[in-house]
Amino acid sequence: MKKYDVRSCTILRKEKLTQDVYDFTVEAGPLADAAQPGQFAQIAVPGKTLRRPISVCEIDRARHTLRFVFQVRGEGTRILAGFEPGEALDILAPLGKGYDLGDTNRRVIFVGGGIGLPPLLAAAQPFGKNAILVAGFRTKSAVILKEDFEAAGCRVLLATDDGSLGRRGNAAELMQGLEFDEIFACGPLPMLRAVCRIAEERGVPCQVSLEERMACGIGACLGCAVKLRGPDGEEHYGHVCKDGPVFRSTQLFLT
Ligand SMILES: Cc1cc2nc3c(=O)[nH]c(=O)nc-3n(C[C@H](O)[C@H](O)[C@H](O)COP(=O)(O)OP(=O)(O)OC[C@H]3O[C@@H](n4cnc5c(N)ncnc54)[C@H](O)[C@@H]3O)c2cc1C
Ligand code: FES
Repeated sequence: MKKYDVRSCTILRKEKLTQDVYDFTVEAGPLADAAQPGQFAQIAVPGKTLRRPISVCEIDRARHTLRFVFQVRGEGTRILAGFEPGEALDILAPLGKGYDLGDTNRRVIFVGGGIGLPPLLAAAQPFGKNAILVAGFRTKSAVILKEDFEAAGCRVLLATDDGSLGRRGNAAELMQGLEFDEIFACGPLPMLRAVCRIAEERGVPCQVSLEERMACGIGACLGCAVKLRGPDGEEHYGHVCKDGPVFRSTQLFLT
């Protein structure tokens, strides 16, 4: 297979996780064999010119399946949510650069906000009990994937904005008092900013996944340009779809 490919993927399982979040497992053949945690797929939506970027949530290489968990945000994701098991999705994958996991015996922390959790699951699974997930949600009914992280062996700490589950507050606040060697994060920008500041203060490496509006998803349209800092501190522009979506916090100008 090329680095990425397009394939018609039959939906094997569909679940509704919350009011507006859907969970699909698809038969993905060689796309599943090649996928890495943190990479994403561009999923075609019937009647829409542009594909929709959705992160790889779980990879099962033995069964050749990929799992996608997505929130209905607009018309495209609403159409996707209408697909049923047995139907096929047209998927371009795996795209972008994922998380660099390094040594999975280290103590690491995954920080996720809301629909930022899906790409963290595949990255956290190899760490098992060495990983802590700190996750923030609006409210109890918006909580997703908690059991999946627990099943992987991770310790799970939750925060909700309204205090209806876990601690009242945000995910970054839960990181106080925890010991870790690296941070992996995905979620809303204010959360990522706070997490990058904590990484800088503690002197630990931090990888964050950015969500930028995308068109082609393969570096051809300049639609997802972002300012980056090179190894010598020089500024340049890169593409979230090709150079990311996962970046080292030191590459970004978030704070
Ligand atoms: C790398 C990456 C991974 C993502 N992973 C997930 C995921 O795992 N689960 C999930 O729920 N969402 C994810 N998103 C966000 C998801 O792509 C958007 O919610 C979705 O494209 C919205 O499409 P729509 O047609 O429903 O909305 P509309 O607003 O109608 O979309 C119009 C156009 O804008 C683009 N667009 C809109 N919002 C976004 C956005 N936030 N990011 C990128 N493009 C956008 C659409 O692709 C489309 O081209 C990811 C985005 C990126 C860039
Ligand atoms: S989406 Fe086209 S260059 Fe990134």
